[in-house]
Amino acid sequence: MFGEYIMKNIVLTGFMASGKSSVGKSLASKLNMKFIDTDSLIEKKLSKKITDIFKESGEQYFRQQETNVIEEVSVLTSCIISCGGGVVLNNYNIELLRKNGIIVNLYTSAQEVYKRISNNKDRPLLQNTSVEKIQKLMDYRKPFYENCDICIETDDLSVEQITDLIVSKISVF
Ligand code: S3P
Repeated sequence: MFGEYIMKNIVLTGFMASGKSSVGKSLASKLNMKFIDTDSLIEKKLSKKITDIFKESGEQYFRQQETNVIEEVSVLTSCIISCGGGVVLNNYNIELLRKNGIIVNLYTSAQEVYKRISNNKDRPLLQNTSVEKIQKLMDYRKPFYENCDICIETDDLSVEQITDLIVSKISVF
């Protein structure tokens, strides 16, 4: 039923490994909305993996590509937009996304993030990391993640539970 109307986008923000992609896909299927992942769009446009973009061109270049993609997707409607964890760091990105979207932040503790990312080589900012290092980066980013319309604590919840919680909360927007 939702798919028949023009809906605001649901924009998922949150630290790396907070479940944005899994929850985003689940929301998209439940609400019959299109799923968009900003990291995948960047990889597709540049035909390169995120790790290689960081390695070859550096973080600043990656951030510019990220903003280019945000400019494109923020004009859409009725989409679930899963954002890379650093999208919030540039207020301009969030201002754009807010025009057509509800910003939903997924909060996950540093311990839980660490558990999820051990042995994962796909995240350049979390190589050779520790719970303490993750916590430090999270503390720095906290005010940026708090710039949202809805915040969901995800640690003890399943993807389905998080999906249902978001659906119940967006009905007031
Ligand atoms: C980043 C998060 C990553 C990816 C890049 C940088 C960040 O996305 O965009 O590695 O700065 O938090 P995920 O949050 O999907 O891991």
